[in-house]
Amino acid sequence: MDDALALVSGHATNVSMIAQLLGPRDLILHDEYAHNSIVLGAKLSGAQRLPFPHNDWQSLTELLRTHRRQAERCLIAVEGVYSMDGDYPDLPRLLEIKKRFAAWLMVDEAHSLGVLGPRGSGIASHFSVDSREVDIWMGTLSKTLASCGGFVAGSQELIDQLRYLAPGFLYSVGLSPADGAAALQALKILQREPERVSRLQNRGQRLLEGFRELGIDPGPSQGFAIVPWIVGSSLRAVQLSEQLLQAGIDVQPILYPAVPERRARLRFFVSSEHSAQDIEGTLTQIAALV
Ligand SMILES: Cc1ncc(COP(=O)(O)O)c(C=O)c1O
Repeated sequence: MDDALALVSGHATNVSMIAQLLGPRDLILHDEYAHNSIVLGAKLSGAQRLPFPHNDWQSLTELLRTHRRQAERCLIAVEGVYSMDGDYPDLPRLLEIKKRFAAWLMVDEAHSLGVLGPRGSGIASHFSVDSREVDIWMGTLSKTLASCGGFVAGSQELIDQLRYLAPGFLYSVGLSPADGAAALQALKILQREPERVSRLQNRGQRLLEGFRELGIDPGPSQGFAIVPWIVGSSLRAVQLSEQLLQAGIDVQPILYPAVPERRARLRFFVSSEHSAQDIEGTLTQIAALV
């Protein structure tokens, strides 16, 4: 990465960046579960926008085969970890595809920074891939970094173009010093204390394993910070959420229409501050409900 740029929110970063970089002669392919800010940026750009089925690189390849030739430039947009399912894309495969079809690859690390990779540096380190192979890295300061703001990192040309032309940077206030300092401090702690990352990964893996032992459907979750319990009914998800709250466990239901009714769920967020006892206690409470 040559350079980076910070904006006042992760949402504004995606909207402004994608809308500025792409235009009506271009093509944007994004995972069907991509965040609203990616979709909105793509719509604003005026480019042809094609969602591909979640984490399905074969369908992505098919869409590229059919549509790439007609477009001038092409962007493939994915996330490092998906916030509803807690799974992640096959980055090496996507790199191969983006090279084959002369496309840019953008990875939104909102949920993977501090979560994936041995030291929490994200999906590139998880796959031991050179991060310079990805054209656009985007992330937010509002999750692992416990602050507020968004960032883009990439080549000097990319960052220069955004610095002078992206409306969310040009026509909006800059990141506040307090938010910048808070995020920087969180980043320093992350780098200084990688044991927080391994603790988070261990807790997440244990919750996932415990769900499987109980016969609970965690969907495609890989046990990195986000582990859903697919309940399959919005009503039941609300009831279970209330019962767990009574037992001291705060887990929010995700209901139709945010997800299809048969995919209604409880979404567990694991943090490095959860103790092994917290996870075992949660599994015991859940066991009493299934
Ligand atoms: C994948 C993803 N990208 C971008 C954003 C937007 O980030 P922010 O909340 O910092 O505006 C979010 C926030 O929920 C997100 O989940």
